[in-house]
Amino acid sequence: MIGVFDSGLGGLSVLAALVKALPQADFTYYADTAHVPYGDKPDTLIQRRVLAVGAELVTQGATLLVVACNTATAAAVQALRTAHPGIPVVGVEPGIKPAAASSRTGRIAVLVTPSTARSTRLRHLIESHAGGVEVHVEPCPDWATHVETLRLDDPALIADVQRRIASILDRDADRIVLGCTHYSFLVPVIAPLIADRAELIDVADAVARQTQRLAGSLAHGSGQIHLTASAHPERLHAALPRLRLAYLAARVTTRNL
Ligand code: DGL
Repeated sequence: MIGVFDSGLGGLSVLAALVKALPQADFTYYADTAHVPYGDKPDTLIQRRVLAVGAELVTQGATLLVVACNTATAAAVQALRTAHPGIPVVGVEPGIKPAAASSRTGRIAVLVTPSTARSTRLRHLIESHAGGVEVHVEPCPDWATHVETLRLDDPALIADVQRRIASILDRDADRIVLGCTHYSFLVPVIAPLIADRAELIDVADAVARQTQRLAGSLAHGSGQIHLTASAHPERLHAALPRLRLAYLAARVTTRNL
């Protein structure tokens, strides 16, 4: 089984890409909803939670782990790899490289949680892959919480998204990287604001391809998806239609770990 986790619902955007790439694989998706959001928490807490959730998934039989969370990857993927040396761990990092490589204006922006914004890992990613391209890092406090509580149409959120995207476009950025898996569910809000002035970069499909390369015999399971959470696991299943993932529901079972 492939274990996939996030602080909450955001990683379901990665799970959808994984299911598309590996339709016969078995997945357990763990949402750490008792601790969401991670993005405003100290690194020590995020590391503790990532190690606990990773250990739980391994105990449940996961032999490959996908950290479907940029914040958790930035703060703790190294610690998770050290804790499970025999298990491949795929992390999610903002698509700085494809954005910088394809930018025509030489300016890109990355939307991230406050925790990812201050991380050393993001700084290193920019230093190694932005190659002369100007990168604007935009922390977006509360966006993940709005997605998590399915308040996708909240006027306060819409106003904040409009303000941040307008200021990014004013900087002449032509690639906007979705650097938090929750933000994939805000594409219907963001895309109309940028029209043809910029492209959104999401790495979910790239993460799925990387997982596919590592999956081996895990690719050939029975195509089951278990959804579980540290609080209110039933909310995950219920959220699928609102996140435009209703098509996954037929394959999904919900359970408490
Ligand atoms: N979905 C997560 C990410 O990709 C974090 C959201 C949060 O818990 O703050 O960064």
